[in-house]
Amino acid sequence: MNILGISCFYHDSASALMQDGKVVAAVEEERFTRKKHSNEFPRQSVQYCLDHAGIKINDVDYIGFYEIPKNKFDRLINTHLHYFPQTYEQFKPFAALWFMRNLQMENVLRNELKYENELVFVDHHLAHAASAFLPSGFDKSAIFTIDGVGEWTTTAWGVGEGHKINLSHEIKFPHSLGLLYSAVTYYLGFKVNNGEGKVMGLASYGKPKFREQFRELIDIKDDGSFRLNMDYFKFHRGLEMIDEKFDSLFKCWRKPGDELKSEHEDLAATLQDVLEEAILKMANNIHKQTGLKKICIGGGVGLNSVANGRVLKETPFTDMFIQPASSDAGSSLGSALYIHNCVLGNEDRWNMDVYSGHSATHEEVKNSSMWS
Ligand SMILES: [Fe+2]
Repeated sequence: MNILGISCFYHDSASALMQDGKVVAAVEEERFTRKKHSNEFPRQSVQYCLDHAGIKINDVDYIGFYEIPKNKFDRLINTHLHYFPQTYEQFKPFAALWFMRNLQMENVLRNELKYENELVFVDHHLAHAASAFLPSGFDKSAIFTIDGVGEWTTTAWGVGEGHKINLSHEIKFPHSLGLLYSAVTYYLGFKVNNGEGKVMGLASYGKPKFREQFRELIDIKDDGSFRLNMDYFKFHRGLEMIDEKFDSLFKCWRKPGDELKSEHEDLAATLQDVLEEAILKMANNIHKQTGLKKICIGGGVGLNSVANGRVLKETPFTDMFIQPASSDAGSSLGSALYIHNCVLGNEDRWNMDVYSGHSATHEEVKNSSMWS
């Protein structure tokens, strides 16, 4: 039984291949294209996985795609209509692409790969949840996925047990910790879906001096649930992250390449502090609801190692598994695992204890374009 998981067309395109219940190859497209966070169709990583296993595309029994394109289309179109006409000019050039990519995704995938067998669209947060819980080695644990956005969901939690996953709670778009983090990343002059890790690092240099201003941006309840004040953002009604009003709160907009000043460090520190507050409150609430001591974390915000460390130190959870490829790259792996365990009902689980990526010889490294 061969199962191929794929993620692409947003960021961090990747492929993962399972053979008879074991992951034999998992690799990101950027390793081949040399474009960081590549969102292209993962032609080369798919080919690498197939070659590594010595099979052809139609030896694959199931392909799992890392989201449900029709549900994503539903979110795009509903958001567009809700904020119409503010959205019209910005979204007009993309309407055809939305139709093509989201309503025709089955054809797109089949045509790209010349693939004829089963195709499963996996809910995005289930793909993240599967990528975290199923390879964790835990028999039973809480699962917490924190992301930018999937189809509609931005944050979800529930329980994994044996080969089953139940995400019982969710927070929906546009209220998103991932998109809040990306918005501030943009305001600080870094690239969205790329510079968030730099902002996390920058935070350690500053003090959380902007807490008062953040009270305007986000309302965090005692259970960790949260709402963004959408007056300050634009990602839900256009292609930009923030409204001009955002600058009136902080007055330190940094353009790419500008000098980094102490207020930028303080803004990053405040963002990180607010993120940690929400995550710690949610994690405490998840523990209260589930009574479990183990937790698995997935989704792009799961890459925030500082917040993860605090969950382990400051909540009742005593064991933690973080999907190392917690961004959308790992949801290709999650899609394959989800099909193996949750769709096909196989009880055997693969444990993530090996490196599955593309290897290179010393000669290949020496000859790599990186050095030329
Ligand atoms: Fe994601």
